Amino acid sequence: DKGTYPHFMLKEIEEQPFVLRNIIQKYMDENGELTIDKNILNSMNDTDRIYIIAAGSSYHAGLIGKQYIEKVSKVQVEVHISSEFAYNTPLLSERPFFIFISQSGETADSRSVLVNIKKLGYPSLTITNVPGSTLSRECDYTLLLHAGPEIAVASTKAYTAQVAVLAILAEVTARSKKIQVNFDLIQELSLVANTMEVLCNCKDTYVNIAQKFFSTTRNAFFIGRGMDYYVGLEGALKLKEISYIQAEGFAGGELKHGTIALIEEGTPIVALSTQEGINLSIRGNVKEVVARGANPCIISLKGLEQDGDTFTIPEVHEFLTPIVSVIPLQLISYYAALHRDCDVDKPRNLAKSVTVE
Ligand code: M6R
Repeated sequence: DKGTYPHFMLKEIEEQPFVLRNIIQKYMDENGELTIDKNILNSMNDTDRIYIIAAGSSYHAGLIGKQYIEKVSKVQVEVHISSEFAYNTPLLSERPFFIFISQSGETADSRSVLVNIKKLGYPSLTITNVPGSTLSRECDYTLLLHAGPEIAVASTKAYTAQVAVLAILAEVTARSKKIQVNFDLIQELSLVANTMEVLCNCKDTYVNIAQKFFSTTRNAFFIGRGMDYYVGLEGALKLKEISYIQAEGFAGGELKHGTIALIEEGTPIVALSTQEGINLSIRGNVKEVVARGANPCIISLKGLEQDGDTFTIPEVHEFLTPIVSVIPLQLISYYAALHRDCDVDKPRNLAKSVTVE
């Protein structure tokens, strides 16, 4: 039931702060510490390489999860698109551990990988929103997203929940290996939940951005570096699937290797800058496209902002920006799709669970 909301997508976007607080509660033990099933931690500690397998938005969450697990828990991670892995299996390490990220737990491409790796005897974990789903039944272990049903085809609250659970998995694994984590994840995630609320309350700004940049354009580009690049991929997927604008995400430094040829007078470019280390380089990329006529929509993090930025996100821990910077992108896509009279919750040609390979 979407209650008073005009669309499930808007309802689900607005639920994100509550979902995040719920995740913190569900993963907290009686001593107020984040906790994960011991068997999962044993697998995380025994493995020499983690293989994350996912599709669409869940794949984008996996790209961020790799950063978390490698940087915080110091385990090597590869992230694979499930449909590619199924037919083009890479050389595996000696002790692989597989993590299947899937909102629905029913994605056939991911399941087909699971069937194969189970035959080889490798351990598996699914991070899913649906208890009792196929992946949850067939994987050795499950971490739930606790996001409540996601009905809109465009994934929103499941994506941010996936990133949050991956951050928790990385932190708890690190602690179990006695690796020092120099921030308090519960506190930082709680701050993120508050920030999400602030961001959900800036609707007028998103309506204006959608109108200014996306009311008539046929295409749009999203650029970023590092984690901002991955959020850009997610922002582009959101925009294209519900508004039918051809939108693509690129690594800022890759533009000059071909894509910049597509920039014309007025082409919208959404640039993300939430990471101190890459702020100057991404702004350099923005200058390059502006010199070719692009219309820049710059989304920055407080502290890194510059005059002329389109929107600035309140400061959160640099590590967790992918959970907040995606919210303006979700809402801008939503209003762009509304403006273009698209069926927001049920975009053409798409199904919520893709149960065919
Ligand atoms: O249920 P899953 O997370 O396995 O689904 C994967 C993709 O089909 C899904 O994320 C899709 O890309 C969404 N519609 C994106 O908004």
